[in-house]
Amino acid sequence: MTDTVDLSSAEPIMRIDEATGNKIFSFERNGETLEFIIGSSPEGTDVWQRVPYEADDYGSVADYRTDFDHADPAYNPSAPEVWKELREGGCPVAHSDRYGGMWVPLTNDTVNEIAYDTDNFTSRSVVVSVGRPGDRALPAPIGGAPPITSDPPFHNIARRLLLPAFAPKMIEPWEPEIQRLCQKLLDEMGDIAPGESVIDAAVQYAQNIPVNVIGRMLGFPEKDEELFRQFVHDVLERIAEEPGTREGTDDLGLYIQQQIAEHRENPRDDLTSYLMNVELDGNKLDDEVVAGMVILLLVAGIDTTWSAIGSSLWHLAQHPEDHQRLLDDPEVMTFALEEFLRAYAPVTMARLVAKDNDFHGCPMKKDDWVLLPFPAANRDPKKFEDPDSFIVDREENRHAAFGLGIHRCLGSNLARLELKVAIEEFIKRFPRFELAGDVRWSVGQIRGPRELPVRILEVAE
Ligand code: HEM
Repeated sequence: MTDTVDLSSAEPIMRIDEATGNKIFSFERNGETLEFIIGSSPEGTDVWQRVPYEADDYGSVADYRTDFDHADPAYNPSAPEVWKELREGGCPVAHSDRYGGMWVPLTNDTVNEIAYDTDNFTSRSVVVSVGRPGDRALPAPIGGAPPITSDPPFHNIARRLLLPAFAPKMIEPWEPEIQRLCQKLLDEMGDIAPGESVIDAAVQYAQNIPVNVIGRMLGFPEKDEELFRQFVHDVLERIAEEPGTREGTDDLGLYIQQQIAEHRENPRDDLTSYLMNVELDGNKLDDEVVAGMVILLLVAGIDTTWSAIGSSLWHLAQHPEDHQRLLDDPEVMTFALEEFLRAYAPVTMARLVAKDNDFHGCPMKKDDWVLLPFPAANRDPKKFEDPDSFIVDREENRHAAFGLGIHRCLGSNLARLELKVAIEEFIKRFPRFELAGDVRWSVGQIRGPRELPVRILEVAE
C-alpha cells in the first residue's frame, strides 16, 4: 500500500434516468465507478436536488434585505457594515431567492433561537450550495459528516465519540509543537529588512498552521497539505457549481478512504486510528462514518483557524496600540483572544428548514436554507456594549464565535491554542508591523483574509 493517491480523474459521464428524469453523473476513479444523482424532488430519495439557481442570472447583490448573498465577493470585506445597516434598518431576518430560497437572521436573539431549535431546523447540510441533499442522500439523523450534519438523537452519540480526542489534556501537549511550527514559518520568511520587507501574513504564515496541525493529528502525509486546502476550498467556496461536477469533493472522499486503508495496514497512535477503533455499542464505526468524521475535522479545522489568525494579524497591523499592549502586558492575551474571536468571528453555518414554520412573521418553507451568521450575533448592540469597537481587555465577552447549542465547536481548545501561539510568536518576532496593501478576503461562509500584505517595521534581536 502506498500513501499516494491517484487523483487523476476522467470527465464525468452524464445520463438521464428515463423513469425519474434524474441526472446521473458517473465518474471513474482508481478503477471504481462513483455515481452522483441530481434531481428536482429529493424527498424520500437519495437524490441531491439541484435548486433552480444560476448565479450569473442574479449578478451582484443590490439589496441585502431581499437578495442576501454571502458568496458575493463584496460581502466578506464589508460584512460588519452589512449587518449593521440591516439591523439599524429594522431587518432582523433577511431573505434571498438565491440557492432555492434562503433566510438570514442577523440579531443575537434570532441567531440563538434558530441554533437552539433542532426540531424546526436540521443540520443535514451546513454549507449553503446549489445542491440540497434529499432525505436519504445524507440519512437523517446521521448525515455525511457527523456530528456536524447530525440531528438529535444521533448527534449526541457522534459528538461523544469525538469529544475525548479534543479534551484539554489531549490538546495542551501540542503547544510546543505549534510554537516550533510558527517559528519555522517565521524563519522561512528569510532576511527581513525593517521598514522595507513586505510579507504575506495569510499566505506565508496563517494558512500553514492549522492544516499542518490537523494533518499531523490525523496521521496524514505532510506533503498533502496543499491538497487539503484545495479540498476545503472545493467544499466551502465552490457553492454555485452543481455538486456532481464538483470533482474535488469526490476526490476528498476517495483520498480519505485510501488513508483509512493505509492506517488499517499500518496502525499507529493518531486521530484516524482512534476513530477506526472507537466503539459504539461494542461495534467499530463503518469506514463511511470514519471518513465523514475525518472530512469534518479537515473542513472544520483548517479555514476556520486560518481565518481567525489572519483577521487578528490584520487587526494588529492597523492598531499598534493593541499590539503594544499585548507586548507590555502579556496577561491581556486571555481577554484579547476572546475579543479577536468575537469581533472577527470567522464561521457562519447553515441549516435547512425541517418543516414549514412562521418565524417571527417570516414564512419559512421546508428545505429553505437558513444561514446562521454567528459573527453578526457578536456585533449586536443588544448583547455587547459598543460592539463595533475592539476592546483588547473586554471582560464580559460571552460571544458566539464557536456556535450555540448542541453543535458548539468541538475543536475550540485546539482553535484557541493555535490562535494564541500564532499571535504570540508573530508579535514576538515582529514587534512592529503595518498593513502594506490590499487585503483579499475569502468568499462564502468562512470569513478571513486570504492575502494579507504587511510591512515589517521591526525585527526582534
Ligand atoms: C477559530 C477557529 C474555529 C471556529 C471559529 C469554529 C467555529 C465553529 C462553529 C461556529 C461551530 C458550530 C457549527 C454549527 O452550529 O453548525 C463549530 C463546530 C465544530 N467545530 Fe469548530 N471552529 C473552529 C476551529 C475548529 C477546529 C480547529 C476543529 C477541530 C479540528 C473544529 C471542529 C469542530 C467540530 C467537530 C464541530 C461540530 C460539532 C458538533 O456538531 O457537535 N473547529 N465550529
